Amino acid sequence: MAASARAFVLRQTRLRPVPGLEELRLHLADEVLPLWHAVQVEMGDPDAALPYWAFAWGGGLAIGRYLREHPDVVAGRRVFDLASGSGLCAIAAMRAGAIEATGADIDRYAAAAIELNARANGHRVSAIRRDVLDEEPPDADVILAGDCWYEARLAARVLPWLLRARDRGVDILVGDPGRRYLPTADLVALAAYEVRTTTELEDMERNEARVYALRPAGEDEERRPRA
Ligand SMILES: C[S@@+](CC[C@H](N)C(=O)[O-])C[C@H]1O[C@@H](n2cnc3c(N)ncnc32)[C@H](O)[C@@H]1O
Repeated sequence: MAASARAFVLRQTRLRPVPGLEELRLHLADEVLPLWHAVQVEMGDPDAALPYWAFAWGGGLAIGRYLREHPDVVAGRRVFDLASGSGLCAIAAMRAGAIEATGADIDRYAAAAIELNARANGHRVSAIRRDVLDEEPPDADVILAGDCWYEARLAARVLPWLLRARDRGVDILVGDPGRRYLPTADLVALAAYEVRTTTELEDMERNEARVYALRPAGEDEERRPRA
């Protein structure tokens, strides 16, 4: 982890309990826009990405709640957290008994936040900072995908990748608060939670977020609407 990225995360956030998952603590920011500006200045890049890593999003909160209720899903298993952000899902998996967890995100500050947040909760999570959607799915037992469906381009790449992983026998859990690009025809709802996201960017402070599995192989094609 780059020391400068770690220092930036520590400077811009406060360690505090996660709403609805108070047993976990994350380095969280109060407001998106001032932090986004600080990221742009720090990187010298006016197009720098939003600092997703400094907030707990609805999809990740739902996965965290689900793993608290159903630790058997990850206990003793190797977990891969796609679009990890703060590392929330990976950390919740470690707390539920996963033997190892990896968080993948394209944002350099996310990579720093994942490791800092894991450590703050007494766990170790390896952070991968690259676009793993260009690669074959990882050698893992479970993939967690929290709040990946907020943008059309990302959403279009995530589903085929998750389907490839599922076809190799990996269990997939998707967490989502009703985003526009969620591929509902490919998912089976497992649970719903009322969550409180930690960012003012969301329309509602309280929101329902769901956890889904991917439909078993064979069912997906017949359910997808025909062109
Ligand atoms: C809305 S946040 C969700 C973070 C976390 N899963 C949660 O629920 O709190 C989406 C994350 O996806 C990351 N992301 C975007 N494109 C990605 C890609 N191609 N591969 C991995 N992560 C990506 C962003 O950097 C961001 O951290």
